[in-house]
Amino acid sequence: AVQRTISIIKPDAVAKNVIGAIYNRFETSGLKIVAAKMLHLSREQAEGFYAEHKERPFFKALVDFMTSGPIMVQVLEGENAVLKNREIMGATNPSEALAGTLRADYAVSIDENAVHGSDSEESAAREIAYFFTETEVCARTR
Ligand code: CMP
Repeated sequence: AVQRTISIIKPDAVAKNVIGAIYNRFETSGLKIVAAKMLHLSREQAEGFYAEHKERPFFKALVDFMTSGPIMVQVLEGENAVLKNREIMGATNPSEALAGTLRADYAVSIDENAVHGSDSEESAAREIAYFFTETEVCARTR
């Protein structure tokens, strides 16, 4: 089924100047960008986005990192988009990411791992609504 999912290019990858290279992976994999914005998150925005990780030991480091510079947030649309984006990203820990995945190519550590993607359709719906209003997500009819 056609799905939508959130993709975030994190501060480390924006700093490496690989936004276009990452967009190219999405496009050559058949995913369409249907919304996009560059943001520099406040602590409140980062803490709210990652609320499910609030009790984890890495939470403060995660919020510090995600607020350290601008990010690119996009909605990807396509057949099986949630899983497809996770395959394109590779494992959360870049040392476990398969060759040719974004994290194998651009991530340096589990903390600075280049990209985020929704892990299910339910989180995709929540994460899309966190960053975009309905009218900011565009229908792509061609
Ligand atoms: P992300 O998909 O953005 O979701 C939460 C982030 O926390 C994750 O990517 C990692 O960058 C970071 N993180 C740091 N340590 C861990 C860990 N032990 N397990 C999962 N995520 C971690």
